[in-house]
Amino acid sequence: MLIDDQPRLACSTLAHSVAGRRVETVEGLATEGNISRLQRAFHEKLGAQCGFCTPGMLMAAEGLLRKNPHPERDEIRAALAGNLCRCTGYVKIIESVEAAAGVGA
Ligand code: FES
Repeated sequence: MLIDDQPRLACSTLAHSVAGRRVETVEGLATEGNISRLQRAFHEKLGAQCGFCTPGMLMAAEGLLRKNPHPERDEIRAALAGNLCRCTGYVKIIESVEAAAGVGA
């Protein structure tokens, strides 16, 4: 999730610690029923994996793109480093973030 635009682990954040702050979850990325550019890129580039890792990947990427709209691949890797997936090599996920940012191959 994002707290005031900063990625945080929802599983280790106590609700009272974010009182009065802007809390965003993956459900908030879509507007008026339309998925966001980042969500569309995950769909089109096959970055969307399972329901356990994808929300975290999306919110970590969203936080990165808000502060750095055109990140390098190493910056994307660093931003996603706290989100684990045991099923992939992360290639499609990183390519999805690059597509949303308009960078990469
Ligand atoms: S696809 Fe989600 S943890 Fe591997």
